[in-house]
Amino acid sequence: MKALVLSGGKGTRLRPLTFTCAKQLIPVANKPILGYVLDQVAATSIKKVGIITAHETGQFVEDYVKDGSSWNLNVCYIPQEPLGLAHAVKTAKHFLGSDSFVMCLGDNVTGQGLESFVKKFKNEHLDALIILKEVDNPSSFGIAQLDEKGNIVRLVEKPKTPIGNLAIIGTYLFSNKVHEAIERIKPSWRGELEITDAIQEMINMGFPVKAEILNSWWLDTGKKDDILSANAKILDEYIQRDIKGTVINSTVDGRVNVAAESKIVNSTIRGPCVIGKGVLIEGSFIGPYTSIGDGSKICNSNLEYCVVQDCVTVRDVERLEDSLIGKNAKITRNQRNRTIKLHVGDYSEVEV
Ligand code: TTP
Repeated sequence: MKALVLSGGKGTRLRPLTFTCAKQLIPVANKPILGYVLDQVAATSIKKVGIITAHETGQFVEDYVKDGSSWNLNVCYIPQEPLGLAHAVKTAKHFLGSDSFVMCLGDNVTGQGLESFVKKFKNEHLDALIILKEVDNPSSFGIAQLDEKGNIVRLVEKPKTPIGNLAIIGTYLFSNKVHEAIERIKPSWRGELEITDAIQEMINMGFPVKAEILNSWWLDTGKKDDILSANAKILDEYIQRDIKGTVINSTVDGRVNVAAESKIVNSTIRGPCVIGKGVLIEGSFIGPYTSIGDGSKICNSNLEYCVVQDCVTVRDVERLEDSLIGKNAKITRNQRNRTIKLHVGDYSEVEV
C-alpha cells in the first residue's frame, strides 16, 4: 500500500500567506501542518509516499520534506495543476500503479491515526473506505448517506435539503478501481474533477465502498480561524512544559515550551504556549494558545490566541488577539498620533 498526500491546490482563502508559502506549511504549535500528516502516515506500515504539489509552492514543500527520511518514509513529488482531488489521483497514476493507497489532505489534521483504517480496508477487501465525521453544519460539506451495514449509498456535495450530518473529511483509502471511476467522470461546474463524483461512480459501478466514522477531532486548516483552532487543539493535546531558554524576572505558568537561545525578560507567559528558538520576549504578556516562531521579537506587547510565524517583530501593541502573522512581519504602534499606518500585502485582512 502507498500514500498520496495532497499538498497542491490554490490556497486562495489563505492569501497573502500562500503567495510565499504552501498553505500546508503554515505552522501550528510551531510545526507545519503537513508534518503532522506525515507523522500519521509514518505510524502505519506504509513507506512509499507521493506528495502532490502546486507549481508555485512545490519547492517550499520539497525544501521541508526533502526525501522523507526524517519520517523514515520514501517520498517523491508529483506536480499538478490544481484541477481537483480526483485530478490529483489521475496525475499520480504512474506513481500509484496498481497499488491500493491512502489519500490524505496535507492541510487537514485529526486526533486519530490511520492504522485502524488501513487494517479495516485490507481485512474487508474494500475498494474504498471513506472516513466521515459528524458535523453541525452539513450544508457546508460533502455529505455521505449510509445503509445499515455501513456502505455508502450516496454522496451529496453541500446538500440544500438535509440527508444526514456525516461529512467527508479528506482521508480516503482506495484500491486501483478508483482509476476506472475517475476515467468515467467529467469536471464539475467549478471545472474540477471531484473525488466525491469518483466515489459516487465507484458506488454506481457496484464496487464495495464503506465508511468509517472518525472518533476524534478533525480540523481543516483552510482559513485563518481554522489555523488558530488547530493551533489551540495541538497546543492542548501535545505541549508539555519544557523551558530550555533563559527566563529573567518573569513568570512562566503552565504547559509552556521555550526553545533554546530564547530569552524571556520582565514578562508573563501563560500556557499552553510554544516559543521557538532565538525569540526575545520583553515586557510582554503572552496568553494561552499562542505560538511564537523562531527569531521573533515581542516587546512591550500583549498577545493571546495567536500564531506568530518566524522573525516577526511586535512592539508596543497593547492587545493582539486571534491573529495569524506571516514571516518577517512587523507590527508596531505609532507613538506620535492616533493614525494607523499600514504597509499591507495583497489580499491581507486588517481589523482595527
Ligand atoms: P482545498 O482547500 O479544497 O482547495 P485549495 O487548496 O485550492 O484552497 P482554496 O479553496 O483556499 O483556494 O484543497 C484541499 C487540499 O487538497 C489542500 O491541501 C490542497 C490540496 N489540493 C491539491 O493537492 N490539488 C488540487 O487540485 C486541489 C483542488 C487541492
